[in-house]
Amino acid sequence: MIYSRITGTGGYLPEKVVTNHDLEKIVDTTDQWIVERTGIRKRHIAEEGEFTCDLAEKAARNALDMAGLKPDEIDLIVVATTTADQVFPSTACLLQARLGIRGPAAFDVQAVCTGFVYALGVADKFIQTGSAKKALVVGAETISRILDWNDRNTCVLFGDGAGAVVIEASNEPGIISTHLHADGAYESLLRVPSGISRGYDKLRESEAYMQMRGNEVFKVAVTTLGRIVDETLAANGMQKSDIDWLIPHQANIRIINATARKLQTPMERVVVTVEDHGNTSAASVPLALDVAVRDGRIKRGETILMEAFGGGFTWGSVLAKF
Ligand code: COA
Repeated sequence: MIYSRITGTGGYLPEKVVTNHDLEKIVDTTDQWIVERTGIRKRHIAEEGEFTCDLAEKAARNALDMAGLKPDEIDLIVVATTTADQVFPSTACLLQARLGIRGPAAFDVQAVCTGFVYALGVADKFIQTGSAKKALVVGAETISRILDWNDRNTCVLFGDGAGAVVIEASNEPGIISTHLHADGAYESLLRVPSGISRGYDKLRESEAYMQMRGNEVFKVAVTTLGRIVDETLAANGMQKSDIDWLIPHQANIRIINATARKLQTPMERVVVTVEDHGNTSAASVPLALDVAVRDGRIKRGETILMEAFGGGFTWGSVLAKF
């Protein structure tokens, strides 16, 4: 049996920090409302001229350093992003060129906030089948670019950033299972309706930005994330108590609390970064993982459950021995 072992993690957040008090000056909101409803206190926002690939490169180099690998040892690059720098080449190909890697497959995965979990699931299959030995998997977003900064329903929730992992083929257990799902019937609850085939020339400004029915998204997210926890444990014949760390998508502290309750996991065993990062979409799970690995909370051999939910709707989990 070939497993994918996570041998390196990395993260990067843009230097510019926007607090809730900063947002009070832009839209009709308060620090108290944002903290109570979401748990978010601040978020990092990319500067003008700072793009998704810039964030991805920094996170990727950090992950490569931890893995002790040179870029040209990587034989697969998968980037999860909703906010690609260009229509094409893919952000993965742009990143590949930045890292000076030539030849191995590089492609993007688009599953919005579930993107990293999807990308890791895909890369894991490459490793398991022997198609790749050392893969770089990145979640990177400049989600601030698809926000309407006049819409208090959405602009307070998100932030920019990138997270990355290196996974390597191993006989020792690493990734134990991945579960990926989608249901496109929910498109109207969360979307950016503009797109290339719909024509830039016909674009109305409102269509360029995120549209969200937050309360309805919230309800589906809570029940769906509860189900994915059950599905993951049942598929592996595991108990709730077998999970050492829950690393959830960082959208809202109330959604995280509900998932932790479902797993009967004390909050000390849940990695929470939403307070400082906001929702960084595809970057949120790898950023949270990197924070908890680097501060020494997550140790080698511990069992981690990563899960995410996002536009599509998409949702999924990755269960792994770290
Ligand atoms: N500041 C102040 N008031 C705000 C606000 C803000 N930033 N955003 C919305 N409100 C208002 C609404 O207009 C509404 O006012 P009304 O009652 O006068 O109409 C009121 O707050 C309550 O809105 P509601 O949507 O019911 O609040 P909520 O408790 O559901 O919290 C979210 C709103 C968006 C925080 C919550 O629904 C959520 O987190 N949803 C999931 C979003 C998400 O994670 N999306 C990405 C998925 S990956």
